[in-house]
Amino acid sequence: MAKNSVDTENLNIPNHVAIIMDGNGRWAKKRLLPRTAGHKKGAAVVEQIIEDAADLGIKYLTVYAFSTENWKRPKEEVDTLMDLLGNYLTNCIEKSEKNRVRIRVIGDKSALRKDLVDKIEELERISEQYDRITFTIALNYGSRDEMVRAMKKMAKEIENGDVKSEDIDEKKFEEYLDTKGMPDPDLLIRTSGEERLSNYLLWQLAYTEFYFTDVLWPDFNKEELINAIVKYNGRERRYGGIK
Ligand code: IPE
Ligand code: IPE
Ligand code: MG
Repeated sequence: MAKNSVDTENLNIPNHVAIIMDGNGRWAKKRLLPRTAGHKKGAAVVEQIIEDAADLGIKYLTVYAFSTENWKRPKEEVDTLMDLLGNYLTNCIEKSEKNRVRIRVIGDKSALRKDLVDKIEELERISEQYDRITFTIALNYGSRDEMVRAMKKMAKEIENGDVKSEDIDEKKFEEYLDTKGMPDPDLLIRTSGEERLSNYLLWQLAYTEFYFTDVLWPDFNKEELINAIVKYNGRERRYGGIK
């Protein structure tokens, strides 16, 4: 182990870490590069962080890759992000047996390119058997949109007579969310110095510990992840507790 490094053996590792990967554009700007160069570096960092998280014993990692609001960005940037994602998914399909990572996608898939939807479905199907870590990508995701879609599904079932309004409670509501079956995040990390949720997992983060860092996403690494976990270990959690 390197000098000054943290002894991770004695750390309580959060079961579920959610990340808002922010700062790709600023990272590129600092280097006089196009924003898309920041997204490329950011995508490479994600791949490494999944491995680091799995090594540390994190069982669920959920990242914000594209928000429902991100469509408002210039078309060229949106296209690059979708292409990067397509490449990433193809790569995952090829490596899934070796990586043993279960992949899930949350968000409204109906607005995504057909080739992406096909890849997502294939990947979700073939990786379902793996449990080393569950890696969830929030794609065309917005928490308010997720809740409205959940309400619509529920309303339909009530109209059909399959569900009664008196049966609805928090547990029932969660069954309609994209995150169905997933534990709530224990720790949320947002990079790049912004301290807002940007419509991310509003329901699921009700009791999550928040960690904000100025590090830009393309500079994020295992050491930064451990820093966040150390900070998390110093917090006294009210509900849920550190496992
Ligand atoms: C985060 O980086 C990645 C996405 C939102 C897709 P940004 O692109 O938001 O980078 P900044 O915030 O402009 O630096
Ligand atoms: C949030 O980051 C979405 C993702 C990281 C994908 P943004 O950079 O898009 O958020 P805002 O617009 O600054 O709130
Ligand atoms: Mg941003």
